[in-house]
Amino acid sequence: MNLDVALPQWRELQTAARAARGNAWAPYSRYQVGAAVLTSDGRIVAGCNVENASYGLTICAERVAISAAIAQGCSSFSAICVSLKGIPVPCGACRQFLVEFNPEMLILLDDVNHAAETPPELVRLSELLPRAFRLS
Ligand code: THU
Repeated sequence: MNLDVALPQWRELQTAARAARGNAWAPYSRYQVGAAVLTSDGRIVAGCNVENASYGLTICAERVAISAAIAQGCSSFSAICVSLKGIPVPCGACRQFLVEFNPEMLILLDDVNHAAETPPELVRLSELLPRAFRLS
């Protein structure tokens, strides 16, 4: 997939995800994650991971971004960018969370060790979560 053709807004998404990563609340893991979703009507909504002293309450950046967008009235998403230091792949819980909205969602995997504007890897959610559970 050619990134500029498949997702011309990838730079804006990357910028938003990287900026949100700076707000991560990650005092326990020190693992900061940023995410930004692109809504079908062209809006970009970002999120970061939010940890808690009761570890199991931690929320991943992807779910924060989607939830923030839903709260703003957007429920149709074409893409999400995930930014972190290293190789970012959404966890299993986030894959299931994302598939609710668009099984073919484009996912940008952005390693912040690379200079900004370095094209992130592009995958489809259906590649990361084949045969996903959905209520029929
Ligand atoms: N985390 C995310 O934000 N997204 C993922 O897809 C994987 C993990 C967060 C949760 C926790 O705050 C930290 O990364 C370490 O697991």
